[in-house]
Amino acid sequence: MSAATKPLPKSVLISESCLQQRIRELGAQIFADYENQELVLLGVLRGSVLFFADLSRAIFSAQLENITREVQIRFEFVQLTSYHNNTQPSAVELIRSGSNYLKQRHILIVEDIVDTGQTLDFLCEHLWTLNPKTVKVCTLLDKPSKRRVPVPIDYIGFEVPDAFIVGYGLDYAQQYRNLPYIALLEST
Ligand code: IMP
Repeated sequence: MSAATKPLPKSVLISESCLQQRIRELGAQIFADYENQELVLLGVLRGSVLFFADLSRAIFSAQLENITREVQIRFEFVQLTSYHNNTQPSAVELIRSGSNYLKQRHILIVEDIVDTGQTLDFLCEHLWTLNPKTVKVCTLLDKPSKRRVPVPIDYIGFEVPDAFIVGYGLDYAQQYRNLPYIALLEST
C-alpha cells in the first residue's frame, strides 16, 4: 500500500487513559465473578492481543487487593478471520482452534470488537463442541448498530458508533495495531 493511498487514523475516539481505567474496572469485575476458580482466558488473535495483555494484568491487580482470594488464570488462543484487507465483512474461518485444555473449564473469550456478531457466533458454536464448563464473552468494543447475529456479551468495555475503528490491537490491512488508543479511520 503506498503512503498516498493509505487511510490515516483521523481522530482519537477512546484515549489511552480511558482505555486503561475501564480495563481496570473490567479486571476487578471479572476477578469478583470468578473468585477462587480457574479461568481460561481465550484470546482471539490477532486483534485482542493488547486488550488481552492488559486485562489479564488487571485481573491480577484486583487479586493484589484481595490477598485471601485468587483466580487462577490460564492463557489460550484461537485465530479466526472475517476481514480480508478491507472494511467489508466476509465468511468466518477458523485458522487456529483452542487446545484440549478447554474441556470442562470456565472459558472467557477475550475479543477486540463485536460488529456483526458472526465471528463470535461461529466461535461459540465451535467451543461448545469442545465440552467446556462455561463460556462467557468479554469484548473491549461493541458496535451494536452493525449486529446481524444476536450474541450474548457478558462484559463490554465501550459501545462504539458505526464507523471503522483502528488502534489498540485493531487493524486496517494489518496497520495501526500498535496505537495505544482507539481511533476512527479517515474515509477516502
Ligand atoms: P464480526 O464478525 O463482524 O462481529 O467482526 C469481528 C471481527 O472483525 C473483529 O474481531 C475484528 O477483527 C474485525 N472488525 C470488526 N469491526 C472492525 C473495525 O471497526 N475495525 C477493525 N476491525 C474490525
